[in-house]
Amino acid sequence: MKIDILTLFPEMFDGFLNTSIIKRAIQDNLVDIKVHNFRDFSTDPHKKVDDYGYGGGPGMVLMPQPIFDAVESLRSVDSKVILLTPQGELFNQAKAFTLSQYKHIILICGHYEGFDERIRSLADIELSIGDYVLTGGEIPSMAITDSIVRLIPGVIVQDSYENDTFQNNLLDYPVYTKPVDFRGMRVPDILLSGHHANIAKWRQEQQIIRTKERRPDLIEKS
Ligand code: ADE
Repeated sequence: MKIDILTLFPEMFDGFLNTSIIKRAIQDNLVDIKVHNFRDFSTDPHKKVDDYGYGGGPGMVLMPQPIFDAVESLRSVDSKVILLTPQGELFNQAKAFTLSQYKHIILICGHYEGFDERIRSLADIELSIGDYVLTGGEIPSMAITDSIVRLIPGVIVQDSYENDTFQNNLLDYPVYTKPVDFRGMRVPDILLSGHHANIAKWRQEQQIIRTKERRPDLIEKS
């Protein structure tokens, strides 16, 4: 799978791409992630990418030309173009699964006060990561990339995401490690029993109990 990220702040991605699971997935050639500065595509002599909005109003608006040229230079028949915006569809685990099946994704990060409305026509999908406004699409595009990459076969052991929170609309079950007793808080006896069938049953019950307590809206969906 290939992911191209268009941003004005490529340096924001340095830590993200050079750490832990994402770094390993890139090294193992399970995913190819490239970050592009769309300022490089500006035809303006001063590499300008934004200007005042027509009709007045605060802040600068991203111009269509650099983003159109960047997307057109990267796009092929296999590409899905995704625009990050708080006005997009809410991203969730089901959408992460769908996106993880695509061959090529182009993520466009907006910034400043907004982007020229005509940029929307480039996008196959507009996504939001939640009902709050960030200063740009960089953090949303990292969140989306992270959630997709961990679903690519071979990136993490499949078991780790089969019971994931939100998989089957249930939250994950609780897990424990050593010691058995930490400040009077004990690991449930069932997990020490070695009885795999009972443990599996307990975990499933815990998923249902947790989801009812914390996210009853998910139970209604299942
Ligand atoms: N850009 C700014 N806020 C955002 C959000 N919540 N989701 C996606 N893109 C954004």
